[in-house]
Amino acid sequence: MAARPYVLLSCATSIDGYIDDATEQRLLLSNEEDLARIDAVRAGCDAILVGAGTVRRDDPRLVIRSERLRAAREARGLPPSPVKVTLTARGELDPAARFFTVGDADRIVYCASPAVEKTAELLDGLATVVDAGDPLDPARALADLAGRGVGRLMVEGGGTVHAQFLTAGLADELHLVVAPFFVGDPRAPRFVGDGAFPWHPGRRARLAEVRQIGDVVLVRYALSERCTEG
Ligand SMILES: NC(=O)c1ccc[n+]([C@@H]2O[C@H](COP(=O)([O-])OP(=O)(O)OC[C@H]3O[C@@H](n4cnc5c(N)ncnc54)[C@H](OP(=O)(O)O)[C@@H]3O)[C@@H](O)[C@H]2O)c1
Repeated sequence: MAARPYVLLSCATSIDGYIDDATEQRLLLSNEEDLARIDAVRAGCDAILVGAGTVRRDDPRLVIRSERLRAAREARGLPPSPVKVTLTARGELDPAARFFTVGDADRIVYCASPAVEKTAELLDGLATVVDAGDPLDPARALADLAGRGVGRLMVEGGGTVHAQFLTAGLADELHLVVAPFFVGDPRAPRFVGDGAFPWHPGRRARLAEVRQIGDVVLVRYALSERCTEG
């Protein structure tokens, strides 16, 4: 087993690089065809990770929507949906969130050491809470996932998590979907904030694929040698 799973980051942005707007409602960036593609990418992974911010703000279900894809996973001896994973320092997660209540997939919460005890109590019976250090170390969480048999991990945001995985060199592939509109509001979150990214003008990422999907475009970047093109 590799020291860490293959890590695929997935994100949808507006033309001006925002991943949400500043309203209470969740902003839909992808279209139906792209959501079906994302469902298939999820179905090909052992686990899906989102940050605690996304669990709180978007309340995602993180289950495979397609009956056919769920059945195909079961035929391969896998659970219908991948394991759900999140990261938290504070541990203040709502046990009623759909992350914990929808579907039968295993759920793992990587938590910074100081909050492990109270989080394990809060999520008793709903998730496995794992001590991931102080401060929480994403590489440690990835090593733990590898030890649990996760070979392929899809990271679906938000911006804080994406920035961490990218700046720490913990990503093998990036799927960036650009929706055909602007958000234009500095209060809204962007794909990533500032940081020292391993890809810069002197070290360009490898473009693996560009695909039109209805009115959005998917750009796939290979970020490590583990990512094979095409
Ligand atoms: N367009 C898209 O594809 C897409 C996808 C997903 C999300 N989003 C958007 O992204 C926004 C949320 O992004 P976000 O940056 O606020 O949140 P986030 O990246 O989802 O989660 C950040 C939180 O995760 C926990 N965390 C992450 N790394 C950690 C570490 N190394 N150590 C300890 N804790 C860690 C912390 O939780 P605690 O606060 O619990 O300590 C932190 O506050 C929402 O607006 C959502 O709609 C967009």
